Amino acid sequence: MDKQRLVNDLTTFLRIPSVSTLPAHNADCRAAASWVAAELRRIGCREVELLASDTHPVVWGVGPDVPGAPTLLIYGHYDVQPPDPLEEWLSPPFEPTVRDGKLFARGAADDKGQVFCLLKAIEELGAPPVNFRFLIEGEEEYGSRVLFDLLEREPERTRADVVLIADMAYVAPKWPAVYTALRGICYAEITVRTAKSDLHSGEFGGAAPNAHEELLRLLGRLKGPDGKINVPGLYAAVKAPSRHDLAMWKKLPFRDKDFLTHRVQAKALTGIKRYSVLERLWALPTFEIHGVMGGFTGEGAKTVIPAQASAKVSLRLVPNQKLKTVERQLRVAVKRLAPKYVTATVEFLHGADPAQVKVTHPAFKLLDRAFKEVVGRGSTPVRAGGSIPIVPALGRGGAAVILTGIGLPDDRLHAPNEKLDLAQLWDGIGVFSRFYQLLGQPDTTKRA
Ligand code: BES
Ligand code: MN
Ligand code: MN
Repeated sequence: MDKQRLVNDLTTFLRIPSVSTLPAHNADCRAAASWVAAELRRIGCREVELLASDTHPVVWGVGPDVPGAPTLLIYGHYDVQPPDPLEEWLSPPFEPTVRDGKLFARGAADDKGQVFCLLKAIEELGAPPVNFRFLIEGEEEYGSRVLFDLLEREPERTRADVVLIADMAYVAPKWPAVYTALRGICYAEITVRTAKSDLHSGEFGGAAPNAHEELLRLLGRLKGPDGKINVPGLYAAVKAPSRHDLAMWKKLPFRDKDFLTHRVQAKALTGIKRYSVLERLWALPTFEIHGVMGGFTGEGAKTVIPAQASAKVSLRLVPNQKLKTVERQLRVAVKRLAPKYVTATVEFLHGADPAQVKVTHPAFKLLDRAFKEVVGRGSTPVRAGGSIPIVPALGRGGAAVILTGIGLPDDRLHAPNEKLDLAQLWDGIGVFSRFYQLLGQPDTTKRA
């Protein structure tokens, strides 16, 4: 393995600021798609296309035909989250930098570095005995609308024996994982309007409603200090984890105290106290405020009563909640919690149902074996707090969906100084090339 060449290649990919949620980066998203397409051609794909969008195309690829061999669909995403706050990065987010064996850049772990790993594992083997298909999208971080629509029109693109997704992390160093559940998400913007226009806070203050005050009160009511979310009916569909699951989670290398001091790096954990931290992260819905907008936030001081304020919020969903139901419940809750004299509206920006996957297909044993051989430990089944909106749709055609990854818990996804440990990348290339090889051996898995 020419490691320096690989780091250079990945650096080229990571330099492209493919932030899907910001329209100013539309051309960068397309450039990242073209980079992926060129890689797919280089590793021998006979069909490579950019589909369904000019700005955030889905990269589709078909590898060489291997008659009788299983079909493996590789899914990943080339888009990334916004890099702000920029001043907290030790090196700029789109100038990939290696420090202490770690590659720092936005997208290093989520998900460019992992897509890179899956592709380089193919190159490593030359021509693995597997029928490869690729769906590498550019809108995962913004709800995957383009890919949802594409698969609705052309569901046959998911026809495969196995779908492989590397977009998550090990449980702990040297401790690989496969994921049995992902949370869903319901992302919304709540807007409160209190008057026709802004007002002088001296002339009117004391007698006129203030949009920020109303919005903050509303947000404060949506979740209590005990961590409970005040959206009527929200918890009704929540499926409690089985006793078996709870017992397994207790055995994981997870300590609340380490999680608090090394990962959260705050003074206390929050949430509903009678549930364990892993239950709060994996088996309960959440309500988070991402940002509050409106009023005067510029330099200096302006005495104004804002007439409008809004907040970006999201709820995470767990098995067996449904996005459609939660949207309705949130809308009703906002209407109910806002006083009569304010106009409160909810606009939904994106969303996804939670996902549950079975880890019983024979391919899971092969991945487990590959991890054992390369890392020294097989894969432990766990759940994820995060979401990958398209996962339920990828499994709809009957393929087994393998959710795994080469990240580590301290990769700082979506945060400043995101990184990928290069040792994880080298191991990952070893693991996935071994997996492809095992999958391609006769009689290891069902044929398409
Ligand atoms: N790779 C993550 C999902 C993830 C993170 C899974 C950590 C497991 C552990 C993915 O790129 C992601 O961040 N998804 C978004 C989806 C949303 C914007 C629709 C998320 O979870 O916020
Ligand atoms: Mn990701
Ligand atoms: Mn992400």
